[in-house]
Amino acid sequence: MKNILLDLALIIDLYPLDNSEKAPESASVYQALIQSDDYQVYITSASLLELESKQIERLKQVSPLLTIEKIREKTQVFFKNLCTEIKIAKTPAYIDLEIGDIKIAQMLAAVQAINGKILTKNPRYLEQYPNDFISIDTCLNAIEQAPISIDFANLKKQYWALQPQIERQIDEVLSNTAFVMGQKVTELEQTLCDFTNANHVISCSSGTDALLLAMMAMDVEPDDEIITTPFTFIATAETIALMKAKPVFVDVDPVSYNLNPDLIEAAITDKTKIIMPVSLYGQPAEMDKINAIAQKHNLKVIIDGAQSFGATYKGKQEVHHCDIYTTSFFPAKPLGAYGDGGAVLTQNDGYAKKIAMLREHGQRKRYHHDYIGMGGRLDALQAAILLAKFPTYASEIKQRQAVAKAYTLALSKQFKTPDIASDCQSVWAQYTLRVPNRAAIQAHLQKQGIPTAIHYPMPLHLQACFQYLNFSEGAFPVAELLSKEVISLPMNPFITPKQIDYIVLTLKEMLTR
Ligand SMILES: Cc1ncc(COP(=O)(O)O)c(C=O)c1O
Repeated sequence: MKNILLDLALIIDLYPLDNSEKAPESASVYQALIQSDDYQVYITSASLLELESKQIERLKQVSPLLTIEKIREKTQVFFKNLCTEIKIAKTPAYIDLEIGDIKIAQMLAAVQAINGKILTKNPRYLEQYPNDFISIDTCLNAIEQAPISIDFANLKKQYWALQPQIERQIDEVLSNTAFVMGQKVTELEQTLCDFTNANHVISCSSGTDALLLAMMAMDVEPDDEIITTPFTFIATAETIALMKAKPVFVDVDPVSYNLNPDLIEAAITDKTKIIMPVSLYGQPAEMDKINAIAQKHNLKVIIDGAQSFGATYKGKQEVHHCDIYTTSFFPAKPLGAYGDGGAVLTQNDGYAKKIAMLREHGQRKRYHHDYIGMGGRLDALQAAILLAKFPTYASEIKQRQAVAKAYTLALSKQFKTPDIASDCQSVWAQYTLRVPNRAAIQAHLQKQGIPTAIHYPMPLHLQACFQYLNFSEGAFPVAELLSKEVISLPMNPFITPKQIDYIVLTLKEMLTR
């Protein structure tokens, strides 16, 4: 994703946008930019006033009988239309007033804030600031010759799509200086409660801390046993060990790659306290079976939903299928902040009250501490960013689902594609295939500009940090096989059909080698 700021002369060329006769090169570069998936076009906020007066002038010339109200109305329509294609770049406070020419200083500051280039026809600008300005020809060449570029999570595209909302939210926090807890955090928790129909959402500092808070609320003690999957991110079992409890691994199901319920009962002892399934890649585990086992043996259930916020099982959000559900707002997660963040969700009033205290050093009121807790709050800036992102989250989930569907349609005959149970809705944190010759496929894709990732190359029971559990290879054969075969393809709401075609074609090329 690249950003191009149009200098005012160029906008005036284009204006009234349908006047391509007047400046055909400006019109053609503009069209190329607008049609490219890789570029976002901007004008500076400072140029709006000048553009407005030009527009009014023109309207008066063309239709001298127009009333001032009509002119205003038409100008408003003009700007609204313009802003469907072009975004507005602010002039940041760090504008360099030492540069004699304020207009240049303003453009340079604005383009720095969006990390882009200024498109101009002015040879003086091009000569004086070759790193910041580009000519129409250079820009056209760059667009035409750009190799296909695919971003794995495409956080940039999402940021540019939501930039005005994000900027507003950040400005509110900065100007209020309410950086910890406060209104943004409360508003986010309420928003997430409404979305999930949960009784309680307690935001916190990360998905890892959410797991710790959940276990602290359940009074996990040294030597308690917690049943979980070895095929997950380290945090799932690491937090169990951090609580001085014992992670008891149970192999995963070969279809869903989630905790295999049929193997759980054999792992239960009189020390077992909790079953902790993980909703891997965004798909819930078989919760009815897991809950039935938990009920039979009087165990609690925590779902590690770091990858699955928004997923459903039997039509309901996962918080309704466990005692505590935890999630992560790590930037690359489906609902990601711009730093660390997480949340604990529960229907249980007692847990909710305790977790809210635990995340603030176990305090009942300021400087009165009932529990040993932690500094585990979500900061207000992250809450604000999540609030800006939330209104589009449901549609982003749908877009992820559409991308997954397109991949599966194109690849399921040749590759082992993901299988989502008919009673589950995945949020597709990852789209993960199984391939026999993974290293070769990954290298080939990388060579063709397609990023991939491995989630995860080593199951947890074989990690050095868990050597003390005395597992050797062969202990959990499904997890071990998966760790050798899985490969995740680019997955985000912004992948275009053209990009999917390219990824599919590049993958299939490997079959003919
Ligand atoms: C399954 C799982 N659990 C826990 C976590 C930890 O979340 P965070 O990175 O927010 O601490 C992650 C994050 O990658 C995860 O994927």
